[in-house]
Amino acid sequence: MRRKLVVANWKMHGSRAENAPLVEAILAAPSHAGVDCVLCPPFVYLQEVGRQLRDAAVKLGAQNVCAEAPGAQTGEIAASMLRDVGCEYVIVGHSERRHLYGEDDVLVARKVAAAQSRRLTPILCVGEQLAEREAGETEEVLARQLDAVLALSGAGAFEHAVVAYEPVWAIGTGRTASPAQAQQAHAFIRRRLASRDAKIASGLRILYGGSVKAGNARELFTQEDVDGGLIGGASLQAEEFLSILAAARG
Ligand code: PGA
Repeated sequence: MRRKLVVANWKMHGSRAENAPLVEAILAAPSHAGVDCVLCPPFVYLQEVGRQLRDAAVKLGAQNVCAEAPGAQTGEIAASMLRDVGCEYVIVGHSERRHLYGEDDVLVARKVAAAQSRRLTPILCVGEQLAEREAGETEEVLARQLDAVLALSGAGAFEHAVVAYEPVWAIGTGRTASPAQAQQAHAFIRRRLASRDAKIASGLRILYGGSVKAGNARELFTQEDVDGGLIGGASLQAEEFLSILAAARG
């Protein structure tokens, strides 16, 4: 039985004044028993949010990581630094990184490896664009994105990783994949990995992301291969986010 996981991706939102009450509301909510929860604020707020989370069951994650070791990489953040400020997770290969900042499958795979070398759990984002779905290429895209990690690090990389299926056309658009569409993609991802290692594939948590809200979370999370969610916009509103956590609790 895979434990549900809900990850808040704040993206480039928040301020010190806004973050504190949001985190406080999440921590004050009835126990998160049975569900894992990770908050991913922008880099500059990691330490402060981390201090607020201290000893709580809610974990800290970053939104990106540099593939390189510490060195001459102006403006970048190394995996060891994320670990140093208390991160346990890091989002890797989010579609905004892939499409706005040109991160390709090979770079994303190297970031997964860099995270794992510092015992950070990567949350590997995969997903097709609208034109690719309409051309019937969804599975081809997902396979290509997963295979880059398999080629660099092998199936073992997925033993301590999370995958997030985020159809690009559903991110921040208010247009959610139907539960059946999500289930189909998640099942494909699990099958693809099972062909390399059935045990790791059956234990892997695969999150759905893309316009998850309190109103659609329950139906998505009850799909067999949907193990939780990666939540953008709705994670910035305490009440909405707490309802999503409750939906994951079942
Ligand atoms: P959204 O974003 O929930 O605002 O669609 C999800 C994500 O990009 O992780």
